[in-house]
Amino acid sequence: MPTVTDTSPFSDRILKCLKAPGGNDEDELEFIDGGLRCSNTGEFFPHRDDIPFLYKPSENDTRSITETIKSFYEEHPFPSYEGLEEFGALANKGWTNPFSRDLVDAIGYNKLVLECGCGTGQLTHFLQLNNNHTLGVDLSLSSLALAAEHKRRNQLERSSFAQMNIFNLAIKDEAFDVVISHGVLHHTYDARGAFAHIVRKVKPGGVVIVGLYNSYGRIPTWARSKVIRHLGPKIDYVVRNRIHDEKKARIWIEDQYFNPHETWHSIGEVQGWFAENGIEYLNCSPPILGTDGENAGSMFQNTNPGTSYKRAITQLGWLGTIAREGALFDVIGRKA
Ligand SMILES: C[S@@+](CC[C@H](N)C(=O)[O-])C[C@H]1O[C@@H](n2cnc3c(N)ncnc32)[C@H](O)[C@@H]1O
Repeated sequence: MPTVTDTSPFSDRILKCLKAPGGNDEDELEFIDGGLRCSNTGEFFPHRDDIPFLYKPSENDTRSITETIKSFYEEHPFPSYEGLEEFGALANKGWTNPFSRDLVDAIGYNKLVLECGCGTGQLTHFLQLNNNHTLGVDLSLSSLALAAEHKRRNQLERSSFAQMNIFNLAIKDEAFDVVISHGVLHHTYDARGAFAHIVRKVKPGGVVIVGLYNSYGRIPTWARSKVIRHLGPKIDYVVRNRIHDEKKARIWIEDQYFNPHETWHSIGEVQGWFAENGIEYLNCSPPILGTDGENAGSMFQNTNPGTSYKRAITQLGWLGTIAREGALFDVIGRKA
């Protein structure tokens, strides 16, 4: 049973970036009690469980992967909030993690940030620091409910959330300074197509960050997935060394080893997507070995994309590093 709220879930800056699902950029949305209304057509989009509902299914998803993934993350909202209920603890985690720390520093101040596939919204919350306004969108209502609960509990006014599908974003084109999708597109039916959708939402001169499973680095996880039922969760490095909470460990194991759909990608492949979409390569995290990316002062610094040889060596090296933590790598680019 939907509940009615009388305060807007979005700051004015974020609301101006939204449009009706499936509509055009003139189909602006306004907040009225319990939902959003298109000021052009009058169509009303009531919230679901207090979460703005701007979801539209994927049109060309013949194998229904979007729906399968949605059900999976409804059952297993990721990542878990255990121990991070207070924003201070979450911010502390963000500052200690090199990736999120470098990202918030590179983004700077007063920016509009979109996170596509925000899960439970931890990064979306962290990135609203520095007076940034952030919007996290995801398929999973149960994940978004945890994100909204953290927002309410900690009175975070600049982070906001909505249920949306990456293949049908209810967001105006070229609306955001920064668009990030971290650990998401490899769970869609068409990662390359999904990238083209999210890139449209970046302003010219803005930055896109895409985090994907690596084709080389993911092999050990695949091998462990074949034996984990017999050997138990302790064969996973993260469970052995980092996660001390049982629920958190269960959710991590489900996400890593029992996910209904994932694809693997290489640095060169993502650089190809950049070229197709008018994105200039800036950097990679972890960096490409033997390039100036290794000494970059900022995540958004323009660095050398490397040769295919250097990229291959880098990714082979990841078998001994990021592979034990799931082999997620991020490529960063700027829209021309
Ligand atoms: C592994 S989780 C990553 C969550 C978060 N980005 C993080 O790094 O912790 C993947 C998320 O992508 C979301 N997702 C997958 N396909 C999507 C789509 N087509 N549209 C929106 N979200 C999607 C899932 O619901 C899930 O919450």
